[in-house]
Amino acid sequence: MSDPRTIVAVKGFRDVLPPESEGWRALEDAAAAVFSRYGFAEIRLPIVERTDLFARSIGETTDIVEKEMYSFLDRDETPLTLRPEATASVVRAYLESGLAQREPAARLYYRGPMFRRERPQRGRYRQFWQIGAEEFGRDDPLADAELLVMLERYLADVGARAVRLELNSVGDARCRPVYRERLREFGRAHLEGLCPDCHRRLDRNPLRILDCKVEECRDIVARAPVMLDSLCEPCRAHLDAVRTLLGQEAIEYVMNPRLVRGLDYYCRTAFEVVTDTLGAQNAIGGGGRYDGLVAALGGPDVPGIGFALGVERLAMVTGTAEARTAPPVVAVLPLESRAIASAFQLATRLRDHGFTVALEAPGRSLKALLRGADRRGARLALILGDAELQAGRATVRDLARHEDRPQAVAIDASGPDLARELAQLMDAAS
Ligand code: HAM
Repeated sequence: MSDPRTIVAVKGFRDVLPPESEGWRALEDAAAAVFSRYGFAEIRLPIVERTDLFARSIGETTDIVEKEMYSFLDRDETPLTLRPEATASVVRAYLESGLAQREPAARLYYRGPMFRRERPQRGRYRQFWQIGAEEFGRDDPLADAELLVMLERYLADVGARAVRLELNSVGDARCRPVYRERLREFGRAHLEGLCPDCHRRLDRNPLRILDCKVEECRDIVARAPVMLDSLCEPCRAHLDAVRTLLGQEAIEYVMNPRLVRGLDYYCRTAFEVVTDTLGAQNAIGGGGRYDGLVAALGGPDVPGIGFALGVERLAMVTGTAEARTAPPVVAVLPLESRAIASAFQLATRLRDHGFTVALEAPGRSLKALLRGADRRGARLALILGDAELQAGRATVRDLARHEDRPQAVAIDASGPDLARELAQLMDAAS
């Protein structure tokens, strides 16, 4: 006997139904439109990668790699992981496809689901979606500024409300080690207040204490020295140049010297898009420069910069969750089974000519059918009863005015004739 209980989705995994899915499509379409103006083309990536890829890029000591990855052994024992983010995958694809040689200055964007085994709550899921963009081959501040303007324009385009851009520099391979030591010293002076995880972090990767989510650690870390004060001259000059360019285009942002990203691959420019309206899950998106990443994954020394936005959170601040599909403009209502063939023919021809059609099944009263068509938002109904079949013409009902039109529509009219006639009827109805 089969189990009569229904099967529900896995915790932290969810369905996206209309009209929410329509809102998402609008966000994706806008990304395609805005990003392409900046020369970005879409890349579609696999969802599963070799586990090594993430360990080597995101960092062994990050929460993502330590605690949150969905990793498993394939049947041939290969360690695999459901991707927790896509930057590492884009870098892998960039190297594997030969783009790194052919077109080193590549600009790529993506959208798709990511997987992190975090504790689910509002705005935080185990499968969530990102829209992201990555650029390779440019280490000049203009590339950073261009990307940030694109991000700002995209957010404006989709109507993101109450969001702010926060900016920081996390230094580079030259100045970060100096800062790391300063932070280690600070941490050692406050050992008793820090959690056991942070004790370990102090040995292995002190920067990660800045990202600890334990309340007591956060209080201590709030007093820690900041990277901004330890920047070397080239990093400082890079940041200043980015800021000047952002200023020129009047991009609004705030400097946040305590901004650290949860991934290890960043250098210099780091940024987040945050909001105060979503409680704890305040990051709508984030990104930054990752100049050493391509080389760390076995490629040439090519710089990179990018960002990713969380689609669930973005939808919450844009209100696109309420976007609706266009309602059908015309309903075709067969009253009896005898009318099915004609109704089907009419509906197909109208759809072939671009009309959105609701085709009903027979078996209900005319009143019930009309009520259904009205509820769906149709403006006209084509009614097919016995009298109509005999006359070869469908009665046209104006659903807003609740009255029949004097002219009827020929059932076997050609597609173009039908479309022309319907267009006239629609004009008269509006
Ligand atoms: P991230 O900050 O880890 O960066 O993620 C980017 C965004 O994904 C977050 O700001 C958030 O909106 C969303 N997000 C992350 N985790 C969850 C979750 N559990 N539930 C819902 N939304 C979530 C990255 O992933 C980098 N790859 C960004 C990047 C691209 N850096 C350079 N290029």
